[in-house]
Amino acid sequence: MITKRENMFFLSGKGFSYIIRISPEGYILHDYFGAPVSPLPYGEDSRGWYCFQAEGSDGACVDELRTEYPCYGHTDLGSPAVMASRQPVLKYKSHEIVPGKPALKGLPSALPDGAETLVITAADEVIGVEVRLFYSVYQDQGVLCRHAEITNLADAPLTLDRAYSASLAFPGADYEEMHFAGSWGRERRPVSNSLVQGVYRIGNARGGSGHQMNPFVILKEKGAGEEHGGCFGFMLVYSGDHMTEIEVDQRGRTRVHQGINPFGFEKTLVKGETFTAPECLLAYGDGLGALSRSLHDFIRERICRGPWSRRERPILINNWEATYMDFNEEKLLSIASLAAELGIELFVLDDGWFGKRDNDRSSLGDWVVNRSKIPSGISGLAEKVNALGLKFGLWFEPEMVSPDSDLYRAHPDWAVRAERGPALVRSQLVLDLTRPEVREYVINAVNSALDSANIEYVKWDMNRYITDMPRKGFNYEYTLGLYEVMDAITSSHPNVLFEGCSGGGGRFDAGILCYMPQIWTSDDTDPLERLYIQYGTSFGYPPSTMGSHVTESPNQHTGRRPSMETRGAVSMSCNFGYELDITKLDEADREAVKRQTALCRELRGLVAFGDFYRLLDPFSDGVGGWMSVSKDKSRAFVFVMRALFRPNSAPMRLRLKGLDPAARYSVGGESFMGDMLMNRGIAVSFPFGDGASVSMILEKIEGSAE
Ligand code: GLA
Repeated sequence: MITKRENMFFLSGKGFSYIIRISPEGYILHDYFGAPVSPLPYGEDSRGWYCFQAEGSDGACVDELRTEYPCYGHTDLGSPAVMASRQPVLKYKSHEIVPGKPALKGLPSALPDGAETLVITAADEVIGVEVRLFYSVYQDQGVLCRHAEITNLADAPLTLDRAYSASLAFPGADYEEMHFAGSWGRERRPVSNSLVQGVYRIGNARGGSGHQMNPFVILKEKGAGEEHGGCFGFMLVYSGDHMTEIEVDQRGRTRVHQGINPFGFEKTLVKGETFTAPECLLAYGDGLGALSRSLHDFIRERICRGPWSRRERPILINNWEATYMDFNEEKLLSIASLAAELGIELFVLDDGWFGKRDNDRSSLGDWVVNRSKIPSGISGLAEKVNALGLKFGLWFEPEMVSPDSDLYRAHPDWAVRAERGPALVRSQLVLDLTRPEVREYVINAVNSALDSANIEYVKWDMNRYITDMPRKGFNYEYTLGLYEVMDAITSSHPNVLFEGCSGGGGRFDAGILCYMPQIWTSDDTDPLERLYIQYGTSFGYPPSTMGSHVTESPNQHTGRRPSMETRGAVSMSCNFGYELDITKLDEADREAVKRQTALCRELRGLVAFGDFYRLLDPFSDGVGGWMSVSKDKSRAFVFVMRALFRPNSAPMRLRLKGLDPAARYSVGGESFMGDMLMNRGIAVSFPFGDGASVSMILEKIEGSAE
């Protein structure tokens, strides 16, 4: 709900309030963000002393105030949200409150269903700059969407060097920041720092949101944990270079900005032109768990879209780790046919099916089947796979070109390059998606491959960064081009399930999720590594967005030998699948696959669309665990895993969460009251050895409330 009372705007969604105040001088001040409060006006905080008395200033020291979109210069010397060739001093001009939520030009954004939006127009009449600040709230969601639009009203061009999406000011500095850092194979590990006076930058400038720093940052009150304490989430709906900047100022106050990374960014606006910054999702939770559950609901219900966003996902088998690029039709069909027998529902043909690609040094860009490997072509293979009772899916890397490809030989200038020759990464180059003819080629090539066969799933990969920016602002323009391409392909194939990928989880962000409801979480499929990766990812993103596959033992990335049970259970905590040569499994493992696929069919709706609770932190406790509880609290799936076996350690009692305290649940042949399971806990006894796991299924016993 949005109401204006006197000089204040009161915004509220599920579980939070947000208050904006217009100062007597016209500055747009941030007043409050946090737990719900009554929408009744009150006086401004005392301002402290005034530091600027320059002639021409209005007497306010904006440096001492906390504005919604800070601008450096004049009387504000803090870290700004905007830096431009003419630096504005923004004052309130007008506002409107509109039903729904305007779309962001050229950018993905949250769905408008059930939203209400406040648009505040701020202006600097002296230099001819207008900024519109957008705030959307939903009664059923714990997330507020913000972004900014900047318009040049003057004859002279206006060059933006920085234009963040949102800024937020906190009254103190008793916070820790938490971000999600990593690299290939080790994505999204939670890292926390106490804040002291200074500036913290958490960002990436590699052309994609990156393995290294996710565009999601949490500010939490000191002492806040899973269950209690103010936690504030900032998530950017953007897949390119991003930045979250946190400044603790001289007086011990904290300012957070989030938006496009200013490094390498530039945008020049001619008269009348508007720049639209990407959307930023702000979430508040009493405890990290509540914060995550708000974001999970929002991502499932307002970020992911299309028929697959609410549908249970098929159990897939992908041939990558089974065959890499060394396969033929017969081999693929032998895997598919056994997969069908074992209860798998979708066969995905990964890299190596096109051009003359037998290794990663050729053919990206030539999206035409290699008939020497697949004589029936993609349509023939899809038919054969369908005849086995499986859906058929295909891998693409649409943004790339190999120097050894027909596409590159015809259009060498289509590859991104600066003045010197471009650096090759994984032997490939990036296509210049800022050029309309390149976008058109990619859209047509992928669309015609999709239209040529019954392809019901696409894995969209992106296996290198942009290293040779031809000009400032290129990575931003590239990201807009990418969105145009993704929009054209996904919207013309609404029934295809798209899964994003970037060398594993190198582009795991809410921007991609607006086009594709799931993303390959990491190339690292060792369940112990996955415990850390999936645990870290869960702070921002729901299990329905993560892909997780059972792969062979010993694991190809770590050499560990996890049990089939552990591999199955950790993968079943997300979108489940297999990525190994199942024809090489012995009878016992084949039976295990049968059991797992049957169990997955029972559990996947609960896991994908239930409430997610983190139980134990593998980073600090050595044991990690989580559980999913159905929205009606009638069922739950619990998973715990111990990293290292410690001889003679005490038996473990695990306290569960999110259950109905007054209901009785059956678990492992026994039954317990919900309050008992949540307060006393349940005994867990791990199998012998490192990396052992236990999973449990809880079913509410109807009519048994005592
Ligand atoms: C990336 C992906 C893998 C696989 C390969 C194919 O590394 O993350 O899953 O698709 O590309 O080249």
